[in-house]
Amino acid sequence: MHRHKILVVDDEHLIRWSLEQNLKKQGYDVLVCGSGEDALRLVQDEAPDLILLDIQLPGMNGIDVLERVRDVDAEIIVIMVTALGVLETAVRAMRLGAYDYINKPFNLDELAIVIKKALESHDLKREVDQLRSTQPKKFSIDSIVCASDSLSRVLDMVRKIAGSDAGTVLIQGESGTGKELIAKAIHYESARCDRPFVAINCAAVPETLLESELMGHEKGAFTDARTQKKGLFEIADGGTVFLDEIGDMPLSIQAKLLRVLEDRVFRRVGGTRDISVDVRIVSATNKDLLAAIDEKSFRGDLYYRLQVIPLLLPPLRERRDDILPLAKQFIADFNREFGKSVHEISARAEMRLLNYDWPGNVRELRNVVERAIILESDEVLQLEHLPREMLSVAGTSPASQGLNLVLPADGIDIEDVERELIQQALDATHGNQSQAARKLNLGVDAFRYRMKKFKLL
Ligand SMILES: Nc1ncnc2c1ncn2[C@@H]1O[C@H](COP(=O)(O)OP(=O)(O)OP(=O)(O)O)[C@@H](O)[C@H]1O
Ligand SMILES: [Mg+2]
Repeated sequence: MHRHKILVVDDEHLIRWSLEQNLKKQGYDVLVCGSGEDALRLVQDEAPDLILLDIQLPGMNGIDVLERVRDVDAEIIVIMVTALGVLETAVRAMRLGAYDYINKPFNLDELAIVIKKALESHDLKREVDQLRSTQPKKFSIDSIVCASDSLSRVLDMVRKIAGSDAGTVLIQGESGTGKELIAKAIHYESARCDRPFVAINCAAVPETLLESELMGHEKGAFTDARTQKKGLFEIADGGTVFLDEIGDMPLSIQAKLLRVLEDRVFRRVGGTRDISVDVRIVSATNKDLLAAIDEKSFRGDLYYRLQVIPLLLPPLRERRDDILPLAKQFIADFNREFGKSVHEISARAEMRLLNYDWPGNVRELRNVVERAIILESDEVLQLEHLPREMLSVAGTSPASQGLNLVLPADGIDIEDVERELIQQALDATHGNQSQAARKLNLGVDAFRYRMKKFKLL
């Protein structure tokens, strides 16, 4: 817990001294001074949380000091200390932003309570402000790591969508490409950001419940409906509804959703009244919806309604420029979370990250980094810290995948590449040198020569 710092400004030495003793005993850091000029300097240098400010001071008086303090800092709590009977000045001080005033001579216990209450309410307010300002920031477009052209183009679109009031957005992309992240960015960057963002995973809610979750129900609509309940569309009024895994929405509910999309109206389950709402509907899927339409598991008319604005998130293997910036961001995040201090990725690990195909996309990369940071105490992320399946050559062999090596932006030592491949061949064959040599189309002697060169023998 942060120790509060209190500044006592009073020209009477004895009062300064007794307040200092008393407040220190209560666990505060205490600064004292006898003039307004000194007070202003201390405010600048020491940033106290609270000032006990005498109104009658030699030179600059307390009211002047209060005004000047307010100019530099709107947050500091100022409690004025007044001689009895000058109510007018006290009122003026309150108008100028003093938190409270107490009369001299004061009772130390009362003063203690006033100070404690002021600091508590101040802390609470600061906490709320902080939550308010970090929640949207956490989901802002700027928090999305992006170095590739293809993701930049998507983010440009996201900015345009957020700035407009385009009603319906469909985000498509493989699992783990960041669809939910984009949906939240659209909401929190838009004029709707003060209203709710409500998400539902259509694949995770049973068909019988999904309709009442979305549309709500009237009392007695079905056995368990003991009370009336609002659905997500109503709860999100003015905000955004995120329909995740829309490809898994049952056909019966697709028909009802179509009506919401067309007219922004719906009925609660068991209801007879049309309810209209103002919501932006963002949906996402990793399914091929056109194929689903062919299979008759998805309605064509719904698809065309949903994809008024289509966003396609490319898989990570098609935007490899994002891999290292993402890895570095995750390293920083997990360092903080687990109190580690990894500050570098070895050249060999970097090359593996760049050339791996990431079937689980960004989520897989995030998990790989998290695991490495939890399990290892090294300050450098090494190749050995990556999961086994990433280390075997299988799955990325040139024959099966096409040779998709990528030169890191800062270049690389070709010897590191050779060493890496030798090591991978050995890993994949559990150290069997002749098999490993064959994998690299080398004779055993040539292979052993290289092992020696790289001190792998
Ligand atoms: N460009 C990015 N910058 C930072 N973090 C990202 C980025 N893309 C994805 N992530 C992170 O990767 C993880 C997966 O992203 P998200 O949940 O948005 O993917 P998804 O496409 O919804 O996946 P699924 O289809 O599996 O639901 C999240 O932790 C997300 O914060
Ligand atoms: Mg998702």
